[in-house]
Amino acid sequence: MSEERRSLAETCAGELQEILSRYLDRRSALLPVLQLAQREYGWISDDTMREVARIVGCRPVDVYEAVTFYSIFHRQPPGKYVLEVCRTLSCALLGGRKLTQHLEERLGIRCGETTPDGLFTLREVECIGACSNAPAMLINNRIYEDLTPEKLDAILDELRAEAM
Ligand code: FES
Repeated sequence: MSEERRSLAETCAGELQEILSRYLDRRSALLPVLQLAQREYGWISDDTMREVARIVGCRPVDVYEAVTFYSIFHRQPPGKYVLEVCRTLSCALLGGRKLTQHLEERLGIRCGETTPDGLFTLREVECIGACSNAPAMLINNRIYEDLTPEKLDAILDELRAEAM
């Protein structure tokens, strides 16, 4: 699918040059350039992967491998709020999976999906560094700790109200 949008080189020329200048080999800039692309476009499309490959001088398949390996990259346009529940050991032992199931029920979607109103994307991720206050999750990269289904309900209500 082709997109009508301005290229990274047009929209973020200065930032792009600054990133590339940090590396002797442009290919080493792959991850920061992908992060820049996701910040600009919200997700990483096939067109974006080809563009990033041209910028850093690698093959599109190399970009694809990085995008599909790191869970921080979105392969579809995400919802306004990206809910990322930690599924690693400390959180799993303290009810992380139940939190995901609770969110699936409350939102009417499965993990990996976005609600039809475009408000919430639900994902599971590996340790987010909040193990001492497990179970934990990220919402748009902000950490929420010591979660319970009741706390999640309150958070969802707040986010819905904020989005109105
Ligand atoms: S195991 Fe969940 S934050 Fe570390």
